[in-house]
Amino acid sequence: MDIKNICCIGAGYVGGPTMAVIAQKCPSINVTVVDMNEQKIADWNSDNLNDLPVYEPGLADVVKEARGRNLFFNTNIDKAIDEADIIFISVNTPTKTYGKGKGMASDLKYIELCARQIARVSKNDKIVVEKSTLPVRTAETLRSILKNVGTGVDFQILSNPEFLAEGTAISDLLNPDRVLIGGQAKAITHKTEEEKKKAEEAMEALVNIYATWIPKERIITTNLWSSELSKLTANAFLAQRVSSINSLSALCEATGADVEEVAKAIGTDSRIGSKFLKSSVGFGGSCFQKDILNLVYIATSLGLQEVADYWHQVIIMNDYQKQRFADKIITTLYNTVSGKKIAFLGWAFKKDTNDTRETAAMYVADILMDDNAIIAPYDIKVIHKQMFADMEMLNSRSDVENKELLQPQTDPYEACKDAHAIAILTEWDEFKDYDWQQIFDNMVKPACIFDGRNLLDANKMRKIGFKYIGIGKG
Ligand SMILES: NC(=O)c1ccc[n+]([C@@H]2O[C@H](COP(=O)([O-])OP(=O)(O)OC[C@H]3O[C@@H](n4cnc5c(N)ncnc54)[C@H](O)[C@@H]3O)[C@@H](O)[C@H]2O)c1
Repeated sequence: MDIKNICCIGAGYVGGPTMAVIAQKCPSINVTVVDMNEQKIADWNSDNLNDLPVYEPGLADVVKEARGRNLFFNTNIDKAIDEADIIFISVNTPTKTYGKGKGMASDLKYIELCARQIARVSKNDKIVVEKSTLPVRTAETLRSILKNVGTGVDFQILSNPEFLAEGTAISDLLNPDRVLIGGQAKAITHKTEEEKKKAEEAMEALVNIYATWIPKERIITTNLWSSELSKLTANAFLAQRVSSINSLSALCEATGADVEEVAKAIGTDSRIGSKFLKSSVGFGGSCFQKDILNLVYIATSLGLQEVADYWHQVIIMNDYQKQRFADKIITTLYNTVSGKKIAFLGWAFKKDTNDTRETAAMYVADILMDDNAIIAPYDIKVIHKQMFADMEMLNSRSDVENKELLQPQTDPYEACKDAHAIAILTEWDEFKDYDWQQIFDNMVKPACIFDGRNLLDANKMRKIGFKYIGIGKG
């Protein structure tokens, strides 16, 4: 099958970088990324590459190379669908905030809207690829919508979940551990030979795109349901490791053990492995929590309550870790932070991204602001407007109160000046290289550092005079 045009619906953290890399690696294919958010598309088209809506190391260079050549960003969704041979659906699938499954299930309304639009617009056969993370068996829903609303056009549905990690998206896309493609070609039964052939051709077409730069042995093909479920499972396992080590950090603090030493000791066991054993203030990001909640919801719906409870505990532990971190700040600062300035170094949910969805920083800030603390956050990539939007979303107090208590800073030294404490919320490398003596000199004493990422050199900080408190350090 000759693929000439790709359309991707959703120009977010996944759609943008993923399509930029496909365009870079496949110059003979036109890749059009569409979104209903006009501002976002304008930002993707900005002459100033610092204005791209997604910050990822290396992304600007890829966009610079491909944009205008065979990579296009626009809001004309109908046209892009009509012209495409393959349509990736890469829209958001947040946790439902209303109705049945509220707070647990994935909200699939954006997916359904895409499916209906594809069905309405398409005039020739298309391959529709689920790039968004979806509950297992969503492809069935897609198929039903496409078949029933469509105009006799044949739609082949593939699942191709994205495993990139924010902060390393470009290197993950260029050199992934694996690419997963689920399709009907792997189904045991096909009604006709013709049906089987079409399913195989669709699968092959997508495999061939990735095979342009990824060794074939790293491209895994499965049936649709395995692919859909594998993405949820991968995120659940990753989050579970973070919660496991974080649960031990509490135990370390109570017993005098050091969580980093424990992590190293257990991580050298090849059955356990050393990655993803870093204790912290808790995981954030748009995916881990939502995907586990979705898994819990699916298990509950299927009557598998023990399975649901098991995975739910990962979220409970993560919430506990954020609460514990905030509580420690309050108790250390003599049981009150009222009117005290607390500098936050970092607001993004991890380093090398400007994404703040579910960031631990906003939850810790919220708890401290409930106690009337003045929070002075500084982040390298997060704009102040976003910090206010995050606090507003939590809906804990009025905008006026948020503006009084949250005082974002553009200079880290200003953020720390006259503060009673500094909390490290994001592991940005540059924090390590600050002039910590100068920071100490300008703080209220005792000057405390709560290192939610175990980023700084504890001995050095203590020598300067800081009261330094890391995570999981007894
Ligand atoms: N962010 C990650 O690191 C990551 C990694 C792997 C998988 N995923 C999954 O990928 C999917 C997308 O995540 P994201 O982080 O890119 O989300 P995002 O919110 O950054 O981007 C989604 C975009 O889709 C657009 N959109 C929604 N409905 C639309 C419609 N009907 N027509 C046109 N545009 C529409 C939105 O305006 C938004 O710009 C989610 O299912 C997520 O779980 C995310």
